[in-house]
Amino acid sequence: MAPNEVCPPAGKLEIRGMLTTDKVLTPAAEALTAQAPIKPSPTARVLIVDDEPAACKLLALVLSEADFDCKTVLSGAEALRLLEKDNRDAIVCDLNLPGMNGMELLAEVRRRSPQVAFLVATGLDDVRAGILAMKSGADDYLVKPLQSEMVIASLNRALQKKRLEQEVEGYRLHLEEMVAERTQQIAAALKLVERSYEDTLEALGAAIDLRDAATEGHSRRVCRFALEIAKAMGLSETQHKTIAMGAYLHDIGKLALPDGILLKPGPLTLEERLFMQQHVQTGYDLVKQIPFLADASELVRTHHERYDGSGYLRGLKAEQIPIGARIFGVADTLDAITSDRPYRSALPFEVAFRIIHTESGRLYDPQVTAAFFSLPKETWPAIAGMRHQAASLPSWLRSGGVAVPLASF
Ligand SMILES: [Fe+2]
Repeated sequence: MAPNEVCPPAGKLEIRGMLTTDKVLTPAAEALTAQAPIKPSPTARVLIVDDEPAACKLLALVLSEADFDCKTVLSGAEALRLLEKDNRDAIVCDLNLPGMNGMELLAEVRRRSPQVAFLVATGLDDVRAGILAMKSGADDYLVKPLQSEMVIASLNRALQKKRLEQEVEGYRLHLEEMVAERTQQIAAALKLVERSYEDTLEALGAAIDLRDAATEGHSRRVCRFALEIAKAMGLSETQHKTIAMGAYLHDIGKLALPDGILLKPGPLTLEERLFMQQHVQTGYDLVKQIPFLADASELVRTHHERYDGSGYLRGLKAEQIPIGARIFGVADTLDAITSDRPYRSALPFEVAFRIIHTESGRLYDPQVTAAFFSLPKETWPAIAGMRHQAASLPSWLRSGGVAVPLASF
């Protein structure tokens, strides 16, 4: 029967040839025989691409009778032009097209509209091309002469597969949105927790200041000094935070000292001095119990150790002393010399620089002093000058202890 002759009813139609008895089992045919009937697609929009007008017309007629909405074009280029202005759910394309062939059209459609079902039609002697097309993204291949039942079943199967893919994709996107939403909620909750940690630190710092008013602001300044040195040494942000908290709370153990010792105007007796030295252990025991401060407790315990082993409580030497405490030693000396004390006024920073330089390698770790002197000299007076502006534990800790530039105060 010629393609332009009268067609038999859909479902029994043979397109461009006779019904074959020795069938080639395409995936569509397998679906017909091995699976339950596939639910027909509701008025799916199909584009038929074939350079033979009669073949296009015939297939369109068959598919229209099966309730598909069909359009036809004679080339790949025409197909792309039509797809730019008209959405189609599926394409049935002859592989052997002049100009842009079926494989090239397939690649372009996959690039532009991956959700469109794409079926290729190939000759019986070119089944390999059909298989290759499926490997390249086609949803099925049809062997000519086309049989109406096969075409319709293959189309429904491909459309159903595409619908499922879109549902899966929609679910995946929904999951991603859900994950993003939950992540935001967790981040907000963590912010609240962090804020409450900061409030706790603030309260502890205020308690230390109240207990030892003579050195008001000392903890905050040594904390900032130590951070600048830690940054210059290239330590990690985690270390910055640990050193910041440890430096801020280093004298928390003094809260337990009796006034008779802490506020004694004259020199301490040997016994009183030994008792005073216990504040490092008291502070350590206290801070160690607080989970979010536990890492900082080592600095609290070792903040009076000295590089040459002459410090207390354990007489640790050099690398036996945690890096945070070695940094703290320099920061503490800098602040002690350059701030007012009950028994003398603040001394110039140049005096502190000389002492730190002289004692490098004896009281202070040479690596720490090298980092200290690598920074501009004006760094330290600038930090010390913030004492009256920093009324509360500020953003340096919230931002990991490093983000506040000197120019901001
Ligand atoms: Fe201390």
